[in-house]
Parts: sequence; structure tokens; C-alpha cells
Amino acid sequence: MFDKVKVEAARLAQQRIEALFDDSGRAADFSVSALGMLFDYSKTQMDAAARQALLDLVDRADVAGRRAAMFAGEKINETEGRAVLHTALRNLDGGPIHVDGADVMPEVLATLGRMEEVAQTLRGSDVRDVVNIGIGGSDLGPVMATLALAPYHDGPRTHFVSNVDGADIADTLKHCDPSKTVFIVASKTFTTIETMTNARTAKAWLERAGVSDAGKFIALSTNKAAAADFGIPAERVFGFEDWVGGRYSVWGPIGLSLMIAVGPDNFRAFLRGAQAMDQHFQQAAPLENLPVMLALVGIWHNQGQGHATRAVLPYDNRLMRLPAYLQQLEMESNGKGVSMDGADLPFESGPIVWGEPGTNGQHAFYQLIHQGTRIVPCEFMVAAQGHEADLRHHHELLVANCLAQSEALMRGRSLDEARAKVADKFDGAELERQARHRVFSGNRPSTTLIYDKLDPETLGKIVALYEHRVFVEGVILGINSYDQWGVELGKELATALGPLVSGDAPIEGKDGSTSQLLSFVRARA
Ligand code: F6P
Repeated sequence: MFDKVKVEAARLAQQRIEALFDDSGRAADFSVSALGMLFDYSKTQMDAAARQALLDLVDRADVAGRRAAMFAGEKINETEGRAVLHTALRNLDGGPIHVDGADVMPEVLATLGRMEEVAQTLRGSDVRDVVNIGIGGSDLGPVMATLALAPYHDGPRTHFVSNVDGADIADTLKHCDPSKTVFIVASKTFTTIETMTNARTAKAWLERAGVSDAGKFIALSTNKAAAADFGIPAERVFGFEDWVGGRYSVWGPIGLSLMIAVGPDNFRAFLRGAQAMDQHFQQAAPLENLPVMLALVGIWHNQGQGHATRAVLPYDNRLMRLPAYLQQLEMESNGKGVSMDGADLPFESGPIVWGEPGTNGQHAFYQLIHQGTRIVPCEFMVAAQGHEADLRHHHELLVANCLAQSEALMRGRSLDEARAKVADKFDGAELERQARHRVFSGNRPSTTLIYDKLDPETLGKIVALYEHRVFVEGVILGINSYDQWGVELGKELATALGPLVSGDAPIEGKDGSTSQLLSFVRARA
């Protein structure tokens, strides 16, 4: 699949990125401008021939056909026999979408209306704290978006409890008054051990305080029967269908905590932004298509040039949970070892995604990004405008830092320049030694996504952009981006280990390391 791309990568291995800018049209040519955003991928080693080899993959993998199948509700999640239709959740003014012959839109819109009613009621009540209990996609989407949209918060305080570590719920409830707290149990399956354990602890907390749990719990789940068993009445259960994957679920009921925080109008703006990206993704030609070009740059760096990781570096502090959100979105979707037909994948799967907001990361791990022996393609993001009109100088510094980093990664600093920097302090062999420590090889690729301002609509566009990027990469890799069998084995073993940790079962049949660790814990518990 990637032979031609690898040939291009080998041809360009020594290419200085800076030299590519001898072509004065390069910046505009290697950028996509759409929906008020600019994606600049000109600071990479990709040239026109390499890009053409990448664009050929789009046709070869039939991205257009798979895309049409996804939007039409075909069961493209083949290992689970499910459609992939998170796009229906934001199809606010679109037409009908059919799954198994039935239009799903009336139910989607009715659920959205019910969410708005409950959100407004809570926002107008004396409820002071709303605690979302969920994990993975039932946590990362809402927490990421709620933090991102902090300037729009005008509802009760929202908290997110995910970890089965009792510290998480204990630290959260410390600040809450049982009579003024509502819990949202967010779980697609309503069986996830962490979430159900935390939900039961929340119930016990109310009971200990002598507060009835009537009206205190809301469930967001595809499993209405399990929510009923937990004691949550049907009118407080917000259902969704199995065609919404956990990591793609923030647009529907799983986004209720976000809606409560920012209000239904802002939530709809978030959906509208995503819908605009859906339309752009379906209509724009590959070269002008933001998700397609983000995906191709990713493939260039990972499968083409062999860079295993990608750093996501939002220069937008409120996007502090975006790297974690993208880790799940990208790594749970495209971290697969077999192709759709079950054959071993003959190339690397999706990249290791990690990151941290700038400028904080600059004072932590950028040393390795600039001078380490491995190349880490960097993905910068920044808003043209901040929200804090009275702190404009902060935003100017933020933008300057973001642009400086991509420039520094590309340009580097030569030995001569390094010598000149310290020539007044050292001479002879010591000057040479000191100068070498100050050399930056440069020629390190990065991309930059700039948007106007992090408002609800823009956030919707950004998240949908990444979802579709993952889709395109998955189609080109020929894998199923919508299952997650890789999380199952650990869950099964954890269930089996429970009684061995608590001492309810003897430690036997385990490898030496696991037995030793169990014995250590049991002796000290
Ligand atoms: O363990 C992985 C996973 O299944 C994710 O895909 C999902 O987002 C998360 O667990 C939570 O699942 P649920 O919403 O069913 O509790």
C-alpha cells in the first residue's frame, strides 16, 4: 500500500524543509483553508510528488466510497455488525438517515429535546453540583469539551469522576452538598466496572447523608434495562443506539454534562460546528479537504517516514484535555494489528499520540523534541483571538511562542551559529564542546492549525475534524476503526484477579511475577 509513499520519503530523506520555501508559493500551496480555519502543513518534507503519492492512496482505498457508506448508515463496523453514525447526532437540519430501513433522526431529535428540557430544569434549580460518572469515551469527550468552553459556563458546577481509584470520587464529593448534587451515570454499556463501582459509591454517599436518591441520578446509556435495575426511572434515562461508538459519543446524551454547563444554545452551536465539518468532509476535493489532508500528513510521517509518535500541542490552555481525548480517539480507533479481513497488518498501525498544552510543554519535554535523536512530528494548534480581551498581551505572547516553536523546529541552529552564541565566554576546545551542545539539527516537521477563537462552534469543527481524520487513516490502513477488542483481555483478567487481591481466593495458577506482586499487596493491605 505504502511502497510509493516510502520511495518518496526515501528520496526526500535529506531534503531541508527550509529550502522548499524557495518556492514562494509553498506556504499557500501546502495549506488548506476552510470553515474559518487554516491548516498549514508546509513545514514538512512533503513536496508535490510526495503529496501526489499520498493523494493516490485516497482513490486506491476508496475513501469516497467508504465515506458515503458511513454517512448512509451502512454497517461499516464489520466486526460488531454496526453502523457508524455519530454524524446523525449532529445532523440538526439534515434529512433522514436510515439504519435497517428505519429513519433514526426522529429519535435523535426527540432525545436532544429531552436533554434540553432536563438541562434547563437543572440549570434553573438549586442544584449546585453535577457529577458525571463515566470513563473512556463517557468521560473524555464531556470533560475535554467542558474545560474547553469554560468561558460559556453559566450553569451548575460540573465535575467528572472516572477512575476506579476511590481517590477520584472521594476528592470530588468532598466539595459537594448531598442535597444539592445530581449524578449523571454515563455508560454506553452500563456494565463498566469503574463506572458502576463509582455510581454505587455515590448512592451510598447519599444514603449516609440521609438524602433520598429519588431524582438524584440520570443515566446515559444504550442499556436501558441495566439503568432501570440500578433504580433510575425511564424518564431520567437518555438512550442512544449501538451505532454511536463510545469515543464518538459526546454529541448525544453523553454530552449532557456539557449541555448543563454551557446551556442548550451553546451545545447546539457545538453540534452545528461539527455538522459544518461533516459537510465539508463530504463535499471538498481531497486537496482542499481538511480531514483528508490531516490524515495524509499523518500517514506521511508515520507509515512513510517511520515516525512512530505524534505530539499534539494546543497553544490553548482550555484544550488541556484534548491530547488525552485524541489519545483515545486515535489509538483506540487505529491501534489495530489486523486488517478488516483478519490478516496481519503488513505495516505500522496508527501513531502514538501524546501532548500537552503550550507553553507548559516547552518547559518540560520540548528539549527532546528539539535535540533528541528521534523525530517527533508536532501538531500545533492556536486561536487567532483569546477570550480575555483585557489580557491581549498574554495572547500575543502565546501566539508568538507557538509560531516560534515551529520555526525553531524547522530552522534549527548550525554549529557556526552556536559558536557565535558562546564565543565571548569560551575559546579553543571548550568553545567547540560548548557549541556542540547548543546545536539544533532543525529540519523537524510540524503542522499548525489556526482558528479564530475557541467558541462552541469552532470546538465542534475541531473535534469532528479529528474524527474524520481518524476515519480516513483507518480506511487507508484497511482496518476497522470502530471496534476495540484490545481492551478486553485486561478487563477479563482484572475481574479474575479481584478475589486474589482481596484474599477471597488462593494465589495459584499465576506466573511468578503476578504471584509475587499479589503476595506483597496482600501482606500489606
Ligand atoms: O474499555 C474501553 C471502552 O469500552 C471504551 O471504548 C469506552 O469509551 C469506555 O470503555 C467506557 O465504556 P462505557 O461507556 O460502556 O462505560
